[in-house]
Amino acid sequence: MKYLFADTANLVDIKKLASVGIIQGVTTNPSLIAKEPKQNFDKMTQELWKFCADNNLPLSVEVFSSNVDEIVRQAKDISAKLLGVKSQNELLYIKVPIGVKEISAIYQLVQAEIRVNCTCCYTAEQMQLAAVAGARYVSVFYNRLKDIGGDPCGEISKVKAFVNDNKLDCQIIAGSIRKTTDLSEAWHSGCDIVTCSPEIINDSLFHEKSKESSDQFLIDFKAWIE
Ligand code: E4P
Repeated sequence: MKYLFADTANLVDIKKLASVGIIQGVTTNPSLIAKEPKQNFDKMTQELWKFCADNNLPLSVEVFSSNVDEIVRQAKDISAKLLGVKSQNELLYIKVPIGVKEISAIYQLVQAEIRVNCTCCYTAEQMQLAAVAGARYVSVFYNRLKDIGGDPCGEISKVKAFVNDNKLDCQIIAGSIRKTTDLSEAWHSGCDIVTCSPEIINDSLFHEKSKESSDQFLIDFKAWIE
């Protein structure tokens, strides 16, 4: 199966997209949180989590520290606070950036049965090692990798083969999506999930020729029916 997640912390946009059945999850990150009006973090994440849990939408919430002990503390705190609201822990994912130090935090959280979305990945190796450590999602920064001359599709296909060969319970998310064609390109390369902004999701539904065609149908039919 291929899935589309909304990459946003805007609950209004999330509700709109969920109401038309085209998203199967939500990802956030500290920058996306910071795009929203300043408010209490716990209250904001609880509102996001309540909606996602009520609608069976996996939600990723990212830690905001680079210190391993603090990452682990924050992850357990976020998890405890949100699962106290709704205990669908199979839907809650804590995002932890990949790194030499951070892999220890990822492994500690996996041992604590917290689902990890390992993010900020740019190489197949980062995603493969995070998957071996137990991350349930690995997130490649699709266009940021292209920005530095990388081949995200190539990295994704290598990780997909590795995960399948090793029967790892890990799905690949393509984030850092900037244009509509990135969606089919990323899915085609083997990623399981594309996560992108509500704007790009809406743009993916629109084509000027579609509008022109349907408008002409209405003109022709109106002339006939009258
Ligand atoms: C995934 O959730 C990433 O955090 C996000 O897609 C990064 O995208 P950006 O490169 O547009 O910041």
